[in-house]
Amino acid sequence: MIDSLGRNITYLRLSVTELCNLRCRYCMPEEGVCKLAHSQMLTEEEMIRAVRAAASLGINKVRITGGEPLIKPNILSICRNVSGVPGILETSITTNAILLPDMAVSLREAGVQRVNISLDTLNPEKYRKITRRGELENALRGAKAALNAGFEKVKINAVLIGGFNDDEIPALAALTQKWPVDVRFIELMPMAGNTDFGPECYIPVNKVLESLPEAVPEQEEGVARLYRLPGALGRVGLISPLSQHFCAACNRIRLTADGKIKPCLHSAEEISMKGLSEAEMMEKMRFAILSKPACHGTLNAQSRSQAARSMNQIGG
Ligand code: 5AD
Ligand code: SF4
Repeated sequence: MIDSLGRNITYLRLSVTELCNLRCRYCMPEEGVCKLAHSQMLTEEEMIRAVRAAASLGINKVRITGGEPLIKPNILSICRNVSGVPGILETSITTNAILLPDMAVSLREAGVQRVNISLDTLNPEKYRKITRRGELENALRGAKAALNAGFEKVKINAVLIGGFNDDEIPALAALTQKWPVDVRFIELMPMAGNTDFGPECYIPVNKVLESLPEAVPEQEEGVARLYRLPGALGRVGLISPLSQHFCAACNRIRLTADGKIKPCLHSAEEISMKGLSEAEMMEKMRFAILSKPACHGTLNAQSRSQAARSMNQIGG
């Protein structure tokens, strides 16, 4: 469906849980992950109904996110049912990869075509620090499992944090020379909760290019500017929500695990789908698409996202 500014909305990000087996500092609080009542969350049936409603409005791509989608007990069934909705041409998932060693093959069989893995550092100590509890070795085993499971595409997402992992840009980018993966550097976004990152942490992804003088530009794709290192199997991508926002090309809406459609990641507007019929969901989604703002406000350490939620409650 075309929105009021001529953007073609074809992409739904579906969050299936707010819970996670990690606690990344930019995404979630350490404690007090307030579990919403089970009755407030969308059921699997409602999620699939929402995907059917979205498909009838022209959505053809669904990304399953969280929280961590792989901790959801019925995740394989959700994937199978989402990928089976007529009109959905591509089903992908974003994960921290911790549970991928045992699940990669089943996810592929459940119709998941693409996997994005969150990995911000290749240093075990730093991995423990940023995730507050994760073991790098497990994430790397998960990434390898994904590479062996026959997905059409595997991407690695690294949130670029000044003073934390900007010294690892060459090492992270070099993964594209070792594995057939795209490595995408994403600017840290100032969400409502993650206030312990000072202004020095927000650095533009152009910094990546300074660290990779040998990178050659390629055709851009969606929201990422792409480059290739010599002899690389995959590409290096730059995603710049702060320094060069891509609102004019935005093609997505989001559905949170508690059933709220968010027309824009950084706006407080939410439209509830809980308990609605497919026809009602379709009407509300149409309204949500038409109310997509032209752009989010300025984002920086002083001017934070207007979204009233942390990333795990939105869907990363
Ligand atoms: N800024 C940028 N990216 C974020 N993610 C979560 N929180 C933030 C933030 N504040 C990303 C994670 C992961 C996905 C779930 O969302 O890195 O790739
Ligand atoms: Fe979990 Fe991903 Fe958030 Fe980290 S960024 S806490 S892995 S949902």
